[in-house]
Amino acid sequence: MCGIVGYIGYREAYPIVIKGLKRLEYRGYDSAGVMLYDGKALNVSKTKGKVSNLEEKSASENTINGSIGMGHTRWATHGVPNDVNSHPHLSNSGELAIIHNGIIENYEPLKKELINRGYVFHSDTDTEVLINLIEDVQKKDKLKLGKAVQVALNQVVGAYAICVFDTKKPNEIVAARLGSPLAIGVGEGEFFIASDASPFIEYTSNAIYLEDEEMAIVRLYKPIKIRKIKDDTLVDPYVQELQMNLEQIEKGGYEHFMLKEIYEQPNVIKDTYRGRLLANSGIIQMAGIEDNIEKFLNADRILIIACGTSWHAGLVAEYIIEEFARIPVEVEYASEFRYRNPIITNKDVVIAISQSGETADTLAAIKLSKEKGAFVFGVCNVVGSSISRETHAGAYTHAGPEIGVASTKAFTTQITVLTMMALRLAKAKGTISNSDFHRYLLELEVIPEKVMEALQTNDISKEIAAIYKDAPNCLYLGRGYNFPVALEGALKLKEISYIHAEGYPAAEMKHGPIALIDEKMPVVVIAPKQNHYDKVVSNIQEIKSRSGKIIAIVTKGDVQVKDLADHVIEIPDSSDALSPLLTTIPLQLLSYHIAVMRGCNVDQPRNLAKSVTVE
Ligand code: M6R
Repeated sequence: MCGIVGYIGYREAYPIVIKGLKRLEYRGYDSAGVMLYDGKALNVSKTKGKVSNLEEKSASENTINGSIGMGHTRWATHGVPNDVNSHPHLSNSGELAIIHNGIIENYEPLKKELINRGYVFHSDTDTEVLINLIEDVQKKDKLKLGKAVQVALNQVVGAYAICVFDTKKPNEIVAARLGSPLAIGVGEGEFFIASDASPFIEYTSNAIYLEDEEMAIVRLYKPIKIRKIKDDTLVDPYVQELQMNLEQIEKGGYEHFMLKEIYEQPNVIKDTYRGRLLANSGIIQMAGIEDNIEKFLNADRILIIACGTSWHAGLVAEYIIEEFARIPVEVEYASEFRYRNPIITNKDVVIAISQSGETADTLAAIKLSKEKGAFVFGVCNVVGSSISRETHAGAYTHAGPEIGVASTKAFTTQITVLTMMALRLAKAKGTISNSDFHRYLLELEVIPEKVMEALQTNDISKEIAAIYKDAPNCLYLGRGYNFPVALEGALKLKEISYIHAEGYPAAEMKHGPIALIDEKMPVVVIAPKQNHYDKVVSNIQEIKSRSGKIIAIVTKGDVQVKDLADHVIEIPDSSDALSPLLTTIPLQLLSYHIAVMRGCNVDQPRNLAKSVTVE
């Protein structure tokens, strides 16, 4: 899971590559490297740490000149993060250079074979094996670079998005992908190759997304050639127009991307339902659903597969689809599902949820579901991502680029899409009355204003954060629709502030976790005035009588919980089903402020990456 950038054209490559790497740091940031070709020599700088460290190093080593360049920001898989294991890697002759995102699973036998043939390795990486394999093939069979890359790739097992450069062919970069994303920006007399389009968005809006098992030969002043790696068939390049702009991917005055993305939620929720939710006319229309409605209506069950925050959105969807559309739903961690020989039939509909659309486990679970005959529907944010292309149909969340590693707007927009789906299916099945349907549509339409109001809890969230920022543990409790929100609140806290946090259904407390409660334990209780309110009040009393510190998320005007809790955060009233869109907001803010106060790197927490393209 890494970010890669390549440039070939008439400009200085270095600034483009460095800026591109900074935009791709969400994919990994434990080490970075750059290679520039100045017409005479390959100049490489590599370092442990972030792209900013690389900038210092390449300036001091003067590896900044040339109009062909490649760069890499790494999330280590094989070999610790250090200078030597950083990419680019060179072949033994020093003529070939590679950047790689992915894993070569059979690198060990390949490495042994290459060592037997006299190759020497300097790093612990699988990538250095691949570049030497390419060199070996090239020399043995006297092949041009493109052909050598193709022959070598047919020998490897694993996943990759690569760029390869050969000093003998200085006007060319060969790119290829299998299981890791790769976009090629097509400019006038210049090309950009990157893990996503953000590194080249200000230079061109024309992009080609390589499909799995495709390779591209990108040559200056020549048309791009794309081939299937396995059988060598030529593929017509499909150039599409990009939908994002530069402003969308910059911080817009906020201190962190995460905060910016939290505050974007009112607008992006609107973007999510725009054109799909026509509340006054009593219509929900979603192309992917309309075209496949019979598949959903005839399904024995719906299986939801996802990871992390997207899995939490899936749990909310389970409640809402079962309640409204009365279709049985099961929610699975994609990583477990893919390896447990699950029972899937052609009567199942699988919904795969993923912000990035690149999560390796989710992608593998989709492939498995398709093999077994299920209809697979994707709910993704990133347009053109692998999952959006691998699924039979789908709905984009339209949240715009999410850069902060901790998902925020992705979660609420996923819930918005899934809620619309549930309501649309319920309408088609006749499991919801016309008046309820209409009421929910009208309520959904005003949710952005309520989210805006919920964002006004920022100051109180900050005050509470200051009190609990040093707590070693924290519990999150919720019931019904707000149980998944409790899980999500706990995940947000642990991933960005490194405080141990657990989410539980409030009623499960008495089956064990209540033993943890003492005067040092902060307990965040999600207690809006809805279905389970009285039960949650009882749970709060149980915590109170054991001296736990209660931070309660309540509906505006609540008095009962206010009397019991140490702190309350008030959010606007809503129906039970739509409450996760509001209750989640103060939890995002709370974890954000705690992380900032603890001096944590909010946007790039340790050990994590935005897009988990390895299993
Ligand atoms: O891109 P995806 O939605 O498939 O990513 C799934 C998880 O990796 C992701 O939600 C992760 O848990 C986030 N760090 C949560 O904030």
